[in-house]
Amino acid sequence: MNKIITFLFVILVLNVSLINCQYGTPTFKIDNSPTLQLVKQYNQSQIYSLSSSGYEKPIIIANLTGTHYEMGFAAGYLMAQEAYENYNVMVGAVLPKTWEKDAFEKFLDWQWNDYLSKQITQNYLDEIQGYSDGAIASGFTQLGKTIERGVVISSFPGDPTENIEYLLRNELLGGFSDYLIRIDRLDVLSKIKEIISNQEEEDTTRSSKGLQCSHFSTWGDKTFNGDMFNGRNLDWLNGSGISNNKLITFYNPVGQYSHAAIGFAGLIGAIVGISSKGIFVAESDNDSVKVTFDGFAWSMRLRYIMENAANIEEAVSLWESTNNTMGMCHSLASATEASTAEHPAFALETMKGYTAFFSDNDPNEHYIYTDPKTGEQTQMGYPLDNAVYRTNHGYDETIRQNEWEPAIPNGDSWTRYMLFYNTFSYYTASNTTISELQAINITSILGNKHSIQDIYSSPAPFYDCTNAWMGYNIISSTFHFASNKMFVAFEEGFGQQRICAACGTYVEVDLTPFFGPF
Ligand SMILES: *[C@@H]1O[C@H](CO)[C@@H](O)[C@H](O)[C@H]1NC(C)=O
Ligand SMILES: *[C@@H]1O[C@H](CO)[C@@H](O)[C@H](O)[C@H]1NC(C)=O
Ligand SMILES: *[C@@H]1O[C@H](CO)[C@@H](O)[C@H](O)[C@H]1NC(C)=O
Ligand SMILES: *[C@@H]1O[C@H](CO)[C@@H](O)[C@H](O)[C@H]1NC(C)=O
Ligand SMILES: *[C@@H]1O[C@H](CO)[C@@H](O)[C@H](O)[C@H]1NC(C)=O
Ligand SMILES: *[C@@H]1O[C@H](CO)[C@@H](O)[C@H](O)[C@H]1NC(C)=O
Repeated sequence: MNKIITFLFVILVLNVSLINCQYGTPTFKIDNSPTLQLVKQYNQSQIYSLSSSGYEKPIIIANLTGTHYEMGFAAGYLMAQEAYENYNVMVGAVLPKTWEKDAFEKFLDWQWNDYLSKQITQNYLDEIQGYSDGAIASGFTQLGKTIERGVVISSFPGDPTENIEYLLRNELLGGFSDYLIRIDRLDVLSKIKEIISNQEEEDTTRSSKGLQCSHFSTWGDKTFNGDMFNGRNLDWLNGSGISNNKLITFYNPVGQYSHAAIGFAGLIGAIVGISSKGIFVAESDNDSVKVTFDGFAWSMRLRYIMENAANIEEAVSLWESTNNTMGMCHSLASATEASTAEHPAFALETMKGYTAFFSDNDPNEHYIYTDPKTGEQTQMGYPLDNAVYRTNHGYDETIRQNEWEPAIPNGDSWTRYMLFYNTFSYYTASNTTISELQAINITSILGNKHSIQDIYSSPAPFYDCTNAWMGYNIISSTFHFASNKMFVAFEEGFGQQRICAACGTYVEVDLTPFFGPF
């Protein structure tokens, strides 16, 4: 026992010195007065452009109202071209090198038909049908299965190419070949077999890009007025071209709660979002290699929760009544209950068939790692009052036992987890109340600004935007629901001119004009 206490003490001292030498504010900007302009409309739905000094091309805002079919129809009618463009660049970014697009699309269709379409609720199937009908009604005939396929691609949030290659290889003699036989495409089957046999030796050493998403909620004595602030980073498909059509969608489904989803044209799920009830949702994965998606596609499930949950209790019970696909972390939080709910926010650690819920300052987060070789112990979890935060690893015992690549001290995911802890501790130690600027600062610090190797360099690149063009981060967003605001940054530009989202401009978006009456 004494040993552990001494050990914890040493860690605390170490942390303080880390804090002193590494702190700083990344060079992000905040645009508080972007220009909103109506571009076009269909029935009760509108497309706006949001122009900001930080972005060459305006961010698209879609404000969709109606039944799910009608919202989909309007989206297809108004944005099919952008969706199609984005789908093609996504395929370009994730298509394993030696695979042909046609074979790859058959793979996506198989995942959709045999797995992902099974547990998605009917309203989203209606919405997808509407999207397709709306595209055709507008004269755009190439859309095809773009939207379903986009749901499949976005269900691989980690390293899609790696996961897809793995799946193709492992499922070829199983479900995928059955599917190809069923749809009478034996030509694709033999082509893929040929590619695989030519490829056998190569490629086991392909280095993983790493997984670098993160999310947090904070409230109570840490924040201005006790308000809740939330943030989320998406580090995925950097430089792919999807940022050409940046999109914020406000869904106003008849009879359900309005909700905002931040993402890109062609992706109808929520990568991150907030509802008119103040329910915040987010995701970060732990990358699971063996996946077939017999669960609720996570990005659609997050919308399902936003449109149906009035409070944190309902959000949790909706989560529990639906199924996970693969291993991921999520946030569920309720901004309007910051001072009334015992636990207004949870971090969720999930895997197929199992979810562990963590509140703030959760004793289960005090996990001590023991090095299997040296026996050296490291405290991995640093839970705090009035804050929950996760990167890409779990603390729950069951989750840890099943993790494909368990987190280790100084590993990438843990390093970023500690940035949360250190930044919250810094604000507490300096008596700084977290308000919008500080919440954006926390969000920005966590966004990946540089390649994974450099995380171990000193000073770590998280506080420094010098190499912003190399960062993986493509969406970085902060929410202050009590004042109806969110601050949204996207990656911008290409090549060495590119700026990752966390180093770019956080555009203030007022939620008030968009949320409908519910
Ligand atoms: C951002 O957080 C870092 C600590 O991680 C701190 O050094 C810096 O001063 C903060 N900046 C602002 C604007 O709060
Ligand atoms: C367009 O609006 C009309 C009138 O509100 C409605 O009846 C119709 O279903 C809508 N059509 C679509 C495709 O949204
Ligand atoms: C969750 O999965 C189980 C089987 O594993 C299935 O019986 C159940 O219907 C699924 N739940 C939903 C809501 O789809
Ligand atoms: C923070 O506030 C406490 C209590 O008011 C005070 O004792 C402490 O000196 C303050 N710390 C700083 C860094 O201002
Ligand atoms: C994505 O980021 C990595 C690491 O910085 C970089 O090597 C790669 O070229 C980037 N990809 C694109 C398409 O920009
Ligand atoms: C967005 O849609 C909602 C619900 O139909 C409507 O109340 C609101 O006025 C619309 N906002 C804008 C800016 O068009």
